[in-house]
Amino acid sequence: MIKKPLILGIESSCDETAASVITQNKQNIPIILSNIISSQIDIHKEFGGVVPELAARSHIEKIDLIVEKAIKDSGIQIENLDAIASTAGPGLIVCLSVGLSFGKALAISLNKPFIAVNHLEGHALSPKLNCKLDYPYLLLLISGGHSQYLSVEGLGKYKRLGTTIDDALGEAFDKTAKILGIEFPGGPQVEILASKGNPRKFELPKPIFKTIEEILYKKTQIAFKEFEKVNKIKADKFVVAGGVAANSNIRKMLINLCKENAITPIFPKQELCGDNAAMIAMVGLEKFKKGEFSELSHPAIPRWPLDENAIFLKGAGVKL
Ligand code: KG4
Ligand code: ZN
Repeated sequence: MIKKPLILGIESSCDETAASVITQNKQNIPIILSNIISSQIDIHKEFGGVVPELAARSHIEKIDLIVEKAIKDSGIQIENLDAIASTAGPGLIVCLSVGLSFGKALAISLNKPFIAVNHLEGHALSPKLNCKLDYPYLLLLISGGHSQYLSVEGLGKYKRLGTTIDDALGEAFDKTAKILGIEFPGGPQVEILASKGNPRKFELPKPIFKTIEEILYKKTQIAFKEFEKVNKIKADKFVVAGGVAANSNIRKMLINLCKENAITPIFPKQELCGDNAAMIAMVGLEKFKKGEFSELSHPAIPRWPLDENAIFLKGAGVKL
């Protein structure tokens, strides 16, 4: 029996080439049928960071194989797909262009609707792949490029409550790793080494006395209050998403903070914290159900904030 709806998600915004097929059951709970991720860590390691040109080349080399495998692993026939969703931004323009063009071309050839997805919205909705999550909710998005608190009020409806004016959390982890001579990407490795370290070994000077965790603790308390102010209801759940949400110390600290405030903490599954295409398909699924399809002229958008208040330069997108 053919399951419905069947959505293919494609992700190529940075250094992961990914494709995933998802559907939902009769209770509207999303089901991941396949989730393929090919990482380019080995290609970029020697340069200490992602090299856009090399990343784009690798996406081009792999995208058809990754999509083919996602279809094969899902057990469906490609012609039974209901829609194709690709990340359209934010990200590296040369990388975005690969998955976006591929998704559009596939949609044309199968005569199916195309859905352009904001990568950050993918992270924002990623917990929906493993639990029921109703709007509105308070979201902490912590990835390589973003550290922000958002009030998520519906599909496509975001209010930014606060953001960093400095490096994003993932970037801070990666820079720390670089200083310590740890190979790119260093975030996960810093976590492993930190778990074996002695937190009392060094007396840190005042300006950096507060560690990442303490800052997050305090800012999250403020975000709880801000959410209440904006929505006129107390936050009853706190969603943490993005690559850094995989960090177990940060998870533990935020879970404790939620306990103290009688708030339910919600995290994506560990393997869905980092970049993946299931989260892109998840946004695709919600948009499909609302009939929100995109024009085939939809541009790749390197800078694409989620919140309506953030400045967005008209015409900043690049048409493909
Ligand atoms: O969401 P993501 O995969 O990509 C972006 O959209 O940016 O996040 C990647 C970031 C990198 O900076 C990486 O070092 C960091 O998440 N990261 C971690 C951990 N796992 C990934 N940082 C700290 N601890 C981790 N376990
Ligand atoms: Zn990401």
